Order: sequence, then structure tokens, then C-alpha cells
Amino acid sequence: MIVTIDGPAGAGKSSVARALAGRLGFRFLDTGAMYRAVALAAMERRVAWSASDELAALSRQISLQFDGDRLLLDGRDVSDEIRDPSVAGVIHHVADHVGVREHLVELQRREAERGDLVTEGRDQGTVVFPAAECKVFLTATPEERARRRVAQDLAGGRIVQFDEVLQQIRERDRRDETRPVGRLVPAADAVHVLTDGLTQEQVVDRLQQLVSERQLAWRANSA
Ligand code: DC
Repeated sequence: MIVTIDGPAGAGKSSVARALAGRLGFRFLDTGAMYRAVALAAMERRVAWSASDELAALSRQISLQFDGDRLLLDGRDVSDEIRDPSVAGVIHHVADHVGVREHLVELQRREAERGDLVTEGRDQGTVVFPAAECKVFLTATPEERARRRVAQDLAGGRIVQFDEVLQQIRERDRRDETRPVGRLVPAADAVHVLTDGLTQEQVVDRLQQLVSERQLAWRANSA
């Protein structure tokens, strides 16, 4: 079974999807990490963002492998580096690139051939797995997402301005929603889950319930 979780940045998709996969005993795929790794590789190899063909070729040359929660780029663990703000600042060059997306979509589909999967991103229920048995569109209002970010940063000893964070979140939403390919849009058959005011545990409970219902319906249909 394939469970897709799409939604905007900061809605808690990764932690929720990872926890859900753990509970279900499914594998977990963080597709944002793949885009981040291509951006990191391009930065390291100094590929110009305007060199469209080179960027597409690079995405095909590198090896991306998940080892549990860690992502290996050509065998090197880059799980922490890809979270650096310098990567976030340039990632749109990669996420907006048709050729790079084509290749990463192919890799993502290959992951699903290995069995049950919870996958999260922006286009999983629309472009990558349109026939997925269970699709979720996970959101939180920009204000709620900004509040969570500020609280997280404070806990990590960093002081950030709420208005500034809110502005960044709105800008990322705008980019995600207007990208020429793979744009963030809910699949017509996705279940919308608004996480404002809910704990992560409550969200995972809700999704687990949804998956159980789908599994029952699916088994009934295939019996
Ligand atoms: O979810 P994230 O913040 O790690 O995603 C990193 C970037 O990759 C973000 O700019 C959106 C983009 N992305 C995408 O275009 N398609 C996906 N399936 C996943 C992420």
C-alpha cells in the first residue's frame, strides 16, 4: 500500500510521516531530502544554476540512497548538511527544474516497488503516485507554522522574529504553489488534515485511523 502525504513546508509532514511509517511498519520516503541533496551536489560541484542540461545530468550521475533515516549522497551521509539554510536558499533552482524532477520522480516510483511505503512531499499524490490507496494533504495555517518555527528555534537557543518567519513561510508557499511542474496542489481524492491546535500524536492517530479504514476497504475490494 502507498500512503502519500503532501502539504506545505512547516506543516510537520516529515515527523508525522516518519512516525506513521514506524507504527505501520512501512518504509518512509522523504522526497524533499532528495531535492535538497541534488542542490547540495550542485553547490559542491559549482554547477551554475543557469546550466540547465548540466543540472539534469548531475541529478542522474549522483547516487542517492536512504539508509534508515539517513540520506547518502554518493555514499556520504549528508542528512545534516542538506538542512543547512544555504541549501534552502537555492533549492528552488532544483525543484523548478523539469529534467531533475523527471529523474527524481522515477527514483521515487522505484522505491515504491520495494513494498509498503509512506511518502511525503509536494507532488506525491498528484504526479508521482496518482493511484495511491491513501492520500493525505497535511496543512497548518501560515500563522500556526510560524508559531511552531519560532518555538522550535527558541528551544534551540535561537531568537527569530515571528513576522520575519511568517514572511518566509508565505514566500515558500508561493514558490511551492506556482512552480511550473510538480506544484503543491491537493489531489482531488486527498483527505485534508488541518493540524492547527493538534499535537503530533493526535495527527498520527488520525492518519493511522484513516489508513486502517483504507486497508479494510482495499482488502474487501480485492477479496
Ligand atoms: O520538504 P522540504 O522542505 O524538505 O523540501 C525541500 C524543497 O524541495 C522545497 O523547496 C520543496 C521541494 N520539493 C518538491 O518540489 N517536491 C517534493 N516532492 C518535495 C520537495
